[in-house]
Amino acid sequence: MASRWQNKLQPVMASFILMMMVASMRGDVGVQAQLVADFYDSSCPRVQSLVRSGMRAAVQNETRMAASILRLFFHDCFVQGCDASILLDDTATMQGEKSSFPNANSLRGFEVVDTIKANVESVCPGVVSCADILALAARDAIVLAGGPTWKVLLGRRDSTTASYSLANSNLPSPSEDLSSLISKFQAQGLSTLDLVTLSGAHTIGQARCVNFKDRLYDEDVNNEADPTLDTKYLSQLQSLCPSEGGDDNLSSLDVQTPTRFDVCYYSNLLKNKGLLTSDQELASDNSSTTFSYVQSYTQTPSSFLANFSISMIAMGNIGPLIGTLGQIRTNCHVIN
Ligand code: HEM
Repeated sequence: MASRWQNKLQPVMASFILMMMVASMRGDVGVQAQLVADFYDSSCPRVQSLVRSGMRAAVQNETRMAASILRLFFHDCFVQGCDASILLDDTATMQGEKSSFPNANSLRGFEVVDTIKANVESVCPGVVSCADILALAARDAIVLAGGPTWKVLLGRRDSTTASYSLANSNLPSPSEDLSSLISKFQAQGLSTLDLVTLSGAHTIGQARCVNFKDRLYDEDVNNEADPTLDTKYLSQLQSLCPSEGGDDNLSSLDVQTPTRFDVCYYSNLLKNKGLLTSDQELASDNSSTTFSYVQSYTQTPSSFLANFSISMIAMGNIGPLIGTLGQIRTNCHVIN
């Protein structure tokens, strides 16, 4: 039903309604974190430009780094909130998040955060948290990939713990079905619209064969592949990812414009060219709410860009440590 009325809307109207929906849903989230955009204006006025130039250099060196930093921020926020717990190394008494199933051999960009943090520390020692650096770096990454910009709310402090088990349970898996994806986002105070919008991050970056190979060769069904995959796309992916080995071979998440922050991720879904099961699930049932969101983003790209900023702010508001909680780590890898 949702898709029928959305089909009839003029693009501008659809965009307006989607934005209003995000805004009204925000009210349901309840307690808003007390983060502010001008948090470092007097204590470290150069922080924004230091992060920006660090990200510019990193992305110039390797385009994919924009995607890797954005993912690092997502994986931080979904585990204990946006507290830089993702950056902590394991210790003798604590198994951290880096070795969890979604993160091991997969997360990248730690050294980029280290370089930026070192530059910030040399100008304003002990002032700016690793958690805020990550939030700023993720925004700058999106801008560098051609996406929208917004004012990042700041004032997060860094955790003194990390959680291997929460990383395994909270982060969505690539083979997750729609209802489970919705629940995992809901558990973080994020709506179904946030899920569809933030999944649009897969308009950039890459994934390893191991994360979608089950769609290419289903051993249970006479070696048949996932029937929801476009057949031409399927054979491309099969030649990239052989049935034996090649697990770390890489495919772009957006087959059309792999390094540009645009709505091609969504148009791919409508053509059965989503790379991960979790991507295709958003558009696999044309009577679902998620399908109607996907469709309207392809019709009105500006609503995707506007909503992406809003959903990133919402994700950045997940469980921050503020006030006297936590600490400002000197080195993002270890507690002080
Ligand atoms: C909705 C559930 C999601 C699932 C199941 C998921 C899963 C994955 C997987 C499996 C990969 C490839 C990892 C690898 O092969 O090593 C990946 C890559 C990526 N994800 Fe997600 N993701 C989700 C949502 C998000 C969100 C919300 C964001 C950010 C807002 C995001 C940003 C990225 C980016 C940018 C990459 C590419 C990273 C790179 O190239 O280094 N993902 N995701």
